[in-house]
Parts: sequence; structure tokens; C-alpha cells
Amino acid sequence: MTANAELIARRNRTIGPYSPLFYTEPLQFVSAKGVWLTEASGDRYLDGYNNVPHVGHCNDRVVAALADQAAALNIHTRYLNERVVDYSERLLSTFEPRLDRVFFGNSGSEANELAIRISRELTGSTGMIVSDYSYHGTTITLAGLTTGLTTSVPLDPNVRALRIPDLDRDPRPEAEVLAETLASLDASIASLQEAGFGVAACLFDPLFSTEGMPRLPEGLVAGIVDRIHAAGGMVIADEVQSGFGRTGSHMWGHQYAGMSPDLVTMGKPMGNGHPMSAVVTSEAVLDAFGSRNEFFNTFAGNPVSSAVGEAVLLEMEERGLMAQAAAVGAEALARFEEFAGRHDFVRTAKGVGTFLGLDFAVDGEPAPALAKQVVEAMKARKVLISRIGRDESVLKVRPPLAFGRAELPILLDALEASLAEVRP
Ligand SMILES: Cc1ncc(COP(=O)(O)O)c(C=O)c1O
Repeated sequence: MTANAELIARRNRTIGPYSPLFYTEPLQFVSAKGVWLTEASGDRYLDGYNNVPHVGHCNDRVVAALADQAAALNIHTRYLNERVVDYSERLLSTFEPRLDRVFFGNSGSEANELAIRISRELTGSTGMIVSDYSYHGTTITLAGLTTGLTTSVPLDPNVRALRIPDLDRDPRPEAEVLAETLASLDASIASLQEAGFGVAACLFDPLFSTEGMPRLPEGLVAGIVDRIHAAGGMVIADEVQSGFGRTGSHMWGHQYAGMSPDLVTMGKPMGNGHPMSAVVTSEAVLDAFGSRNEFFNTFAGNPVSSAVGEAVLLEMEERGLMAQAAAVGAEALARFEEFAGRHDFVRTAKGVGTFLGLDFAVDGEPAPALAKQVVEAMKARKVLISRIGRDESVLKVRPPLAFGRAELPILLDALEASLAEVRP
């Protein structure tokens, strides 16, 4: 038995076989730095996939901030601590002035659960609208509205799923697709109201990452926001994937999408691997919820988390990582488009900042097996990527934000060679 096979067997006997591992032959890393991960053998892999190590794996500033604060003081938020307030101010300064209050949490799931709880409390309704291929987390409430991952439970009775169109896959005129989608939203709202649930919130990722980054009709996001507000509901932007400068042009995905949500949830890149999340909202919302609910969360927003979160923001700022993501993303997208033009099996290239994809299709049908072949072929070339979308037919290239121009040719050359090698 190889060392990997033995560890997999032990893993199956403890964690169980249902916790997914990437790749036919899973990888085991022993260290990482920047955008590179190293196996025990010494082999190095370029990270073209992971968004959690946002400012780079094992970033010096983040590690030092974590270690120094952990050595000085780590305690929950019922004692006054300047670090926590400093971080809150810095984080909130990245939002429009109206979004000026923050609740901290420990995971994206926790942030979404709290945002939903707040929306229910403030609207007096329980109805939820989500996209028809989405994932927002692990709690009971979130399992009941999961449409993009396998769960044993059906959608909760108070949940309606909205089909998110992709103009790259829909030949109809844009206006027709828009009208159909908004009519379907109207029907969902009416159905929630008739059933007595009302509308508490619509929860979606402004980039629709899990959905495979569909090309949306102009005006769709604004149309959704207007209709939810008109129905008395709140809009929750799940920025677990789209936040923290991923788009290159904007700090937050909702800013990129040109919308103004009532609640913004965030997680993954926030602590560069340290478990952190948050719900950002307005003073009025925080007051309405906070004055009626004593909200206390032991680990959330503690001094160590705040030190880490602050270090992430400072790294982003001082190294100009958002501007770098815009430049790297634009260069990458140009090559992705070239690849799309060269290979019949690439339907289209997708890209927003450093969130990029290639959508595979054969005879007009999604080709997930082909996307899988490319992911494996990239692994053979020691570059990590993955795939997304309702058919898992879209390549997912979403490296740490710290991914620079120096590494880009390695990824692009590997992709070019992998595309040349796969067979539909
Ligand atoms: C868009 C989105 N929201 C929420 C979550 C849940 O976050 P967490 O795993 O930190 O609970 C995820 C995780 O993949 C996600 O992609």
C-alpha cells in the first residue's frame, strides 16, 4: 500500500469516505508559500484554485500578526479591545457609507445563517428565494435551501429556487430571457405570499460563482433587488467567494454587480485560512436586531482573528493586490478567449478579475468529462484548478489574489498544453 493509500484508508475509517477529496489520485501537501504548494517528495504545485490563502499561503505578515496577538492576548468580545474596533473600522471603510455595522462569525455558513435570522426578524416573514444552483453553507436552514450540492433533504417549504439564465447558453434575445426570469421571480414571490410565508430575503452570490459564472441579462440583478424590496424582503449578498477584491475592479462583488444589498456575508479569504466570517449591514438593521436579541459569539471577532483580518487588508492594500488581480485577470482572459477560439469544445471563456473559466460543450451539450480531463491534465503539469457550474462543465481558475504576472505564463502554458491533449 502506498503512503497515500494508507492515509486514505485511515481517513475513511475516521472522517469517512463522504468528505470529498480532489483528483483521482489525491494530493498531500506538507508546506506552502505564496502561490506554491509542496508535496513530501519536494514536488511543487502552482495554486490556480484556492481563494482562502488570499494574500498567499503562509503569508509572513499574517503569520506574524496571528502569532504575536496569540502570544499577547486572545479573549472573547465581552472585554473591551482596541484591535477589534480598529479592524471593524478598517473593514467597514471598504463599504458604501450606508453599510457601517458588522457582526463577526467563524464561517461562511454562520454568517449566512445569521443574515437569514436577521431578515426573518426584521420582516416578520420566513420565505426565501435562492438561485437554482447555489450553495450557502452547512446549517439546517442552509441545507433546506441548497440547490447546488447533494443533500438528502428537499427544499424547505418556505424556499423558492430561481433559475439563473446564462446568455452564453441561451440563444434567445436578451430581453426575452430577462423578462422570463423576472416573471418567474414574480411567480415565486406570489407563491410565497399565498402560502403565508411572505418574503424574508433573497440570498445570492453577486458573481453566481457556484452556478458557473453565467453571463446575465443586463438589468437582472437590479430587477431582482427591486422586486424583493417591493415584496418587503431583504437582499443578502453572499460574498464568500466574490468578495475581498476578487473582481479586480471592486472590493465587493455587489459593487461590481452595481447593487446595494441590505446584508453582506463574507468568509473564506477574510482570514487567509484562519476561520473568520462577518455580516455587514446598516446601523438601522443592527439596531433593530441587536436591541431585541442579545447576540454573543464566543470566538467571533476575537483579538487574534482581528489581527489576522487586519493583516489581510493591509497586505492587499500595500501590495496593490486588487489592481494586480485586474491586470492578471485581463491578461489571462485574453488567452482564455484565444483558447476558446481555437478549440471547438470550448463554448466560451469566462472571467471576472481573477475568477476565470472555460465552458466546455460537445454538440451543444455540456461536457463535464472533458472539464475533468483538463483538471487532471493540469494536475499532471503541477497546476491546481477545478471546475464549477450546474453541469460541472466550467473550468474554475480562481487562484489566491496574490497570484502574480510572474506565475501567469506557467498556468497559461500548462492550460494550452492540457487543452491540446484532451479528447472529447
Ligand atoms: C458562496 C458560498 N457561501 C457560503 C459558503 C459556506 O462557507 P463555509 O464553508 O465557510 O461555512 C461557501 C462555501 O463553499 C460558499 O462558496
